[in-house]
Amino acid sequence: MTSDLKYLRHNDGTQVQNIGLGTFASVEGDCEKAVLHAIDVGYRHIDTAYFYGNEGEVGAAVRKKIDEGVIKREDIFITTKLWCNFHEPERVEYACRKTLANIGLDYVDLYLIHWPFSYAYRGDNEMIPTDANGEVELVDIDYVDTWRAMEKLVELGLTKSIGVSNFNADQLTRLLANCKIKPIHNQIEVHPGLNQKNLIELCKKNDIVVTGFSPLGRHNAEKRTPAFMYDGKVQAIGDKYNKSIAQVLIRYLIELGTVPLPKSSNPKRIEENFNVFDFKLDARDHAILDSYHGGERVAHARQAIKSKYYPFQHYSACF
Ligand SMILES: NC(=O)c1ccc[n+]([C@@H]2O[C@H](COP(=O)([O-])OP(=O)(O)OC[C@H]3O[C@@H](n4cnc5c(N)ncnc54)[C@H](OP(=O)(O)O)[C@@H]3O)[C@@H](O)[C@H]2O)c1
Repeated sequence: MTSDLKYLRHNDGTQVQNIGLGTFASVEGDCEKAVLHAIDVGYRHIDTAYFYGNEGEVGAAVRKKIDEGVIKREDIFITTKLWCNFHEPERVEYACRKTLANIGLDYVDLYLIHWPFSYAYRGDNEMIPTDANGEVELVDIDYVDTWRAMEKLVELGLTKSIGVSNFNADQLTRLLANCKIKPIHNQIEVHPGLNQKNLIELCKKNDIVVTGFSPLGRHNAEKRTPAFMYDGKVQAIGDKYNKSIAQVLIRYLIELGTVPLPKSSNPKRIEENFNVFDFKLDARDHAILDSYHGGERVAHARQAIKSKYYPFQHYSACF
């Protein structure tokens, strides 16, 4: 099989590589090293967020590779995200400029609304504000209003494109009916335990690329969860193609029609996760992987369950 590593064209004409490096929980030096290595390996798509606290490290690595002449700015696609405490429309441009200052670049390629629900603003660094009872302080800001402010960022040239993350089908449909600029991505959790086939289909119909987060179910080696990451049946699929379980899972996301975002700070695993474009799963492999679908989530954000914009009313289980 010839490699199907490629660029996908978005509804606004921009393009993205069909795999990206995840960076959540990769901080304090690890993140910069991971991004430097990923660029050397061939990744041209990096996912970060204000919430991750590592935009600075992502930016430092990208700038270093530009200075070294390894890449040009236009060769790399950087996604970052508006956190929930900046959803007031008049705070969106401020948040984006702060993010750009962190990254040290004039623009990002994609700015996402990280979640459809909003938190009270209690300062830039108080990202999960809580009340006296320890409950998160939710506020009622309509994501459509936030989106209008996101559209202005494109006009200002602060981001090339805009998109959403963790939006369910109803929220996406409502946004599409009320926007001037369509989102180019919906970034959602995708793995065998939550294969998202219906939401992927809706996105496809509307020419929105799905990026799949937690492709390995953010696995826990001690607890050996989720099951699909530790199961002999998935290992047997990998053995057929001389691939690891992680590679099978990442490939599964590609064949579901999504762009996987595996996170690693380990050089060998960064390479392994990129080496998924020279094999193809067959129908039996898909049937085995589909059999894990139970709706369990890694990123359930239960602290926001009382928000009317909480996206997962129908799925509250987690690993
Ligand atoms: N939009 C959102 O709300 C949202 C939510 C969650 C995640 N995300 C994005 O999606 C990315 C990926 O999701 P995730 O970080 O939750 O989980 P993930 O990619 O499913 O799993 C990451 C874990 O797997 C390990 N790992 C990586 N490659 C491996 C391999 N080949 N074999 C064995 N273990 C491996 C990593 O450890 P090492 O680093 O030590 O390799 C890390 O512990 C995030 O980093 C973030 O960019 C977005």
